[in-house]
This record gives sequence, C-alpha cells and structure tokens, in this order.
Amino acid sequence: MQKLSTRHLLGIKDLTPDDIELIMATAKEFKEVINRPIKKVPSLRDVTIANVFFENSTRTRLSFELAEKRLSADTLNFSASGSSVKKGETLLDTVNNILAMKVDMIVMRHASPGAPHFLSRHITANIVNAGDGTHEHPTQALLDSFSMREKLGGDLAGKKIAIIGDILHSRVALSNIFALKKQGAEVTLCGPATLIPRYVTDLGVKVSHDVNKTLAWCDVANVLRIQLERQQIKYFPSLREYSLYFGITKKMLDDLNKEIVVMHPGPINRGVELSSDAADSHHSIILDQVENGVAVRMAVLYLLAGQN
Ligand code: CP
Repeated sequence: MQKLSTRHLLGIKDLTPDDIELIMATAKEFKEVINRPIKKVPSLRDVTIANVFFENSTRTRLSFELAEKRLSADTLNFSASGSSVKKGETLLDTVNNILAMKVDMIVMRHASPGAPHFLSRHITANIVNAGDGTHEHPTQALLDSFSMREKLGGDLAGKKIAIIGDILHSRVALSNIFALKKQGAEVTLCGPATLIPRYVTDLGVKVSHDVNKTLAWCDVANVLRIQLERQQIKYFPSLREYSLYFGITKKMLDDLNKEIVVMHPGPINRGVELSSDAADSHHSIILDQVENGVAVRMAVLYLLAGQN
C-alpha cells in the first residue's frame, strides 16, 4: 500500500505533490463506494475517532462524521459549548481525557491558528486539522481540488484558478494556494487591497482588484465568504459597497460567454460575495463540493490510519 509522507494532516503546506495525488486517487475510489447501494466498507472497523470542535461547523463536522461511519469507525463528537472547557479545562487536558477512552484519531477545529500543531507535539494519536483559525483548512482545499479535477476532467497543471473575496481572514484561501501551487495551477487572488495579505505574492500567486478581469481570465472562481466575525476593524465601507465592487452575479458569469466553474466553501453570504442566482446557477458546483467532501475525508482518514 502506498503511504502518505506524514502521520497527521495539519496543513497542505506539509504535504508533498505525491501525497496530494495519493489522496485524490483514494478519494476517487471512495466516491465510487459511497455511490453504491451499500455505501459502507469495513476499512476502519477497529479505529475510534473523536471529532473535537471548538468552533461552529455544519459541512466539515457532518462530513467527517459521515466519512467515519462509511468506513465503519467508531465515532465520538465533542463540542466546546456545553463541555468542561467552559469550566476552564485546557485544550491539552480535554484531548488527553478523550484519548484516555482509547481514541485513535482526533479531528479538530479550533479558533487558534497552530492549535493542531501544538497538539501534535504532545500526543501520539493521529490529528486531522478541520480548520485552525485563519491558518489552514486542509480537507477543504483537498475537496476543492478534487471537485475542480472532476469538473475540468483532468489534473490542475496550467489551469487558471481565481480565489475571490476575504483572503486575509481565510484558512480556505491559504490551504487552496498551497494545494493549487503543488499541482501546477496558476492562481490569482482577487479582492479589496485591505483583504489581501501584503506578502502573499511570495507564495507565487498574482493579485488583482478587478473582479470582471479576473473572471474573464480564470477557468474556476473559488468565491470566499466575507468573515465579519473575524474582522475587528472595518476593511471596507459597507457590505453593499463590497457587493457592488466584488459581488458576483449570474449575469456577470453569463456575459463572459465561456465555460466558468463557480465554487464556494460555504456558508454563503447570499447577496454579498455571490448572488443567489449565481450560487444556484449551472456554473456552480457548490453542492458537488459538499458531496466530494465525504469521499475526500474518507481518503484522508483511511490513509492516516494506515500510517500506524
Ligand atoms: N466549509 C466549511 O468549513 O464549512 P463549515 O464551517 O460549515 O464546516
């Protein structure tokens, strides 16, 4: 069996191009499995996985839980709200108590960048980063790449991918940049100057502030949410003005007169970064991304379990 170069998935930054290819190929097999009448395989029958979420989630949490069930793993779900974290228990104590119950793998979302990296220095169980603050969201980037490959009908080398929106606060943006560059894609980031980190061009990407030019250039537009909950100051005058200059509508997409794929990791601020008619249009593969999330997370869990 081919193996990953790592025993944790902390970020795309740590993966090799071969790791990404292995995850893509394994996810393709699992996608076939979950489309069969019997969607379950016994691969992780002896493995127990805890989903430890210190931040809200709909897609990632449900998708990991379903992936674990499809692989026949035993699962535990932990939410910080309603837990002893509210009484002051530390992250490490919380996780060590979960591990004392004979848990093999931790899937963790945390508001602090680097929280899963910190854990990896203190525990032996495999760790999957399900989003750490504004840092990385590796399984989102992997499912995004899988969905792009599926829609474009091949690998991403030379493909033109735009990431449009609040890049500054987005863990999805950073993980996508690493993933896309490792697969040989061309990447342009588009948004207001205040929402694009100053030194991001060091990562080999281009920057644009013109959404119409960016849409005309790209094969795929991955549109990101304006993350108001992470913005302590005003980065633009109003949501109405953001939408006027950077919001994407179906008419803008139709007027391009070319094939363009529109993606969004969710949750969507409908009418802000993406109009409802664009989100629900034939250009959009947003729900395919969600479907692919299960297969990609099955692949990640299966491959990491194979490292032990
Ligand atoms: N894309 C994503 O991470 O969504 P959730 O926050 O709902 O998990």
